[in-house]
Formats: sequence, C-alpha cells, structure tokens
Amino acid sequence: MSDSRECRVAVFSAQKYDRLFLTQAATDSNVQFHFLEPRLEPDTVILAQDATAVCAFVNDRLDAEVLKALKESGIDLVALRCAGFNNVDLQAAEDLGIRVARVPAYSPSAVAEHAVALIMTLNRKTHRAFNRVREGNFLLDGLIGFDLNGGTVGIVGTGRIGRTFGRIMQGFGCEVVGFDPYPDPEVEEMGIEYLPWDAFLSRCDIISLHCPLTPETHAMIDADAIALMKPGVMLINTSRGAIIDTQAVIAGLKSGRISSLGLDVYEQEENLFFKDLSDEVIQDDLFQRLLTFPNVLVTGHQGFLTRQAMEEIARTTVDNLRCLSNDEACLNRLV
Ligand code: NAI
Repeated sequence: MSDSRECRVAVFSAQKYDRLFLTQAATDSNVQFHFLEPRLEPDTVILAQDATAVCAFVNDRLDAEVLKALKESGIDLVALRCAGFNNVDLQAAEDLGIRVARVPAYSPSAVAEHAVALIMTLNRKTHRAFNRVREGNFLLDGLIGFDLNGGTVGIVGTGRIGRTFGRIMQGFGCEVVGFDPYPDPEVEEMGIEYLPWDAFLSRCDIISLHCPLTPETHAMIDADAIALMKPGVMLINTSRGAIIDTQAVIAGLKSGRISSLGLDVYEQEENLFFKDLSDEVIQDDLFQRLLTFPNVLVTGHQGFLTRQAMEEIARTTVDNLRCLSNDEACLNRLV
C-alpha cells in the first residue's frame, strides 16, 4: 500500500458516529479528516478551502454550482459515504474533472432489517404498547395486527437490499414478489416471482421500496399507483423520499387504502433529518400532517445505522480516498 500523498478531507454533515468510525478507519493512512457539522451547500463550500477532498453524505448538495466552487478551491475528489448518489450532478463532476466515489455496498442487512423493524412495529403496534404499559394501561383495544405468515410482500427494486429483505420475509412464511425493470435470475431462483407493475401493486399486502431515486422512480408511488394497490396495503420506504408522492400517500391514508406507512426517508428530509429541532417550530406542513396519523411511523434515515455497516462504510471511504488521491484504480468510482 503506498500512502504517499497526503489527503486532507473536509467531512460535511459530520455526526459523532462519523468521527468515531472514520477516525478509526484512517489510522495509519495518508487520509486526514476535518469534521464539519454543516451540510454541504453553496454557503458552506468555503469551509472546505484548505482540503484536497470532500467527504459527503446523503443530504449534502453536490450540484453544478457546489461542484464548480469546490473545483475553484482546488478540490477534485469527492468521496460519498453512502450508496445512493442522486444528490450528485455526475455530468457536472465529469465536465469539471472531479472524481467521485461511493460506498456501493456495505451492509444490505442493515437497511433490510430496518424495513422489517418498521413492518413489525406498525403491524404489532409495539410503539403504542410500550407507551400504554408504561402508563399502566393494559387494554389491548386498537393493537390488533395480522399474521405475516401467508401474506404477500412486494419488493420494488430487487437489488442488494431488496433481495436481502425478500429473504427475511420468506423466513416469516410470506410469499415474496418483485418489480424491477432488470429482473435477475438469481432472485427468481430464490422463489421471488417478478410481476408487471399493475399486477404487482394489486397483489401485495405489504410493499417495500428498495430502488434508487432516478427520473423513472421519482414519484412512482403516486395517486394512480395507490389506486391500484390492495385496500389496506402497508407501504414501507427505506429508499429515497422522492420515490413517493407524499400528498398522494396522505390521501391514501385518509381514505384507508393505505392501512399503514413506514418511512425512513422523506422528500424534504434535508431540512429536518440529522438535526435536533426539538426546540423549533417545524415549518413543513406535509411532514407534520404525516405525524398526526396513528398508523404512520417515521424514522430519521437510520436504516444504515448499525455498527457493522458503519465500520464497512468508513473502511471503504478511506480506501476510496487513498486510491484516488494516489491516482490508483478505484472500483467504486462513479466518474
Ligand atoms: P442496488 O443497486 O443493489 O439495487 C437497486 C435495484 O433497483 C436494482 O435491482 C435496480 O434494477 C432496481 N431499479 C432500478 N430502477 C428501477 C425502477 N424504475 N423500478 C424498480 N426497480 C428499479 O441498490 P441497493 O444497495 O439495494 O440500495 C437501494 C437503495 O436503498 C439505494 O439506491 C438507496 O437509495 C437506498 N438506501 C437507503 C439507506 C438508508 O439508510 N435508508 C441506506 C442505503 C441505501
């Protein structure tokens, strides 16, 4: 391993756990991290001026404006410490000669298991039971769930996370079906049948989203899709917020077509998630409306947050930075 060139990295949106895992992974390497709490956006680019590289997360803004400003400060290397890269203008990065790498796979189990946690909580209402019992209320009214065994679970996007999720749900005794424009024979060998979109929507008791956010998947769960879903469907999104049209989903919850909703991601999450806003008035009315439903459970983008996933993200991020700063080939390079 040649660790010749010093790589000074401005880490945006840095949380305590990022400091811990990234610092550990960078021991004995040429990578030096400078941790910054703010999100990367036009007003905060200046914080990276002494760095040679930037390390960014899901809600950091890497559009043409920000990338141009980074390039002007001499930065030509971006290491994403996440899998999704919908927040990066890759064309602009390529045009500017900025290399971008990501962590394509770390622990598919982390996100898949979080999707299962949302299902289990919404179904058996353990969040409500927890509060009731602590208040001495042992009534069971309103806590009725359903057997997962024998139900049909649909996966939108049968990639690494989707198929891991599918395997877990098969373990519960569910029939698992998939929708993906790129069907994979290995997934079919697992006993997961691919269905056309309309048939998929009308067949599933639970639908879980595991596709990337692209122009094709943007708002793919809209009013038309919801109208085709089985009445009483449970909808789970641990992928990216904008895959769902939130307004349409709220209408679906009000009509009862959607019986419960579990979200780990939200379209406008960059204004909310990863911050303590407990002393503030939240301005996002759509988000606040979601929180009024007893059958909606929102977590703040924590699907990735397991020890194993964090170790793997940090290890791969340091490796990406080391390779690229030493002009070595990097398998995880996007442009
Ligand atoms: P992957 O690349 O292994 O799988 C994505 C799958 O989606 C592929 O099979 C692809 O063919 C499919 N797909 C593409 N376009 C589609 C469409 N129009 N309709 C249906 N399927 C489509 O990705 P992986 O690792 O499974 O991650 C999936 C997504 O999970 C990421 O893109 C990211 O947005 C999200 N994610 C969320 C995390 C969290 O903490 N909540 C953490 C990590 C990833």
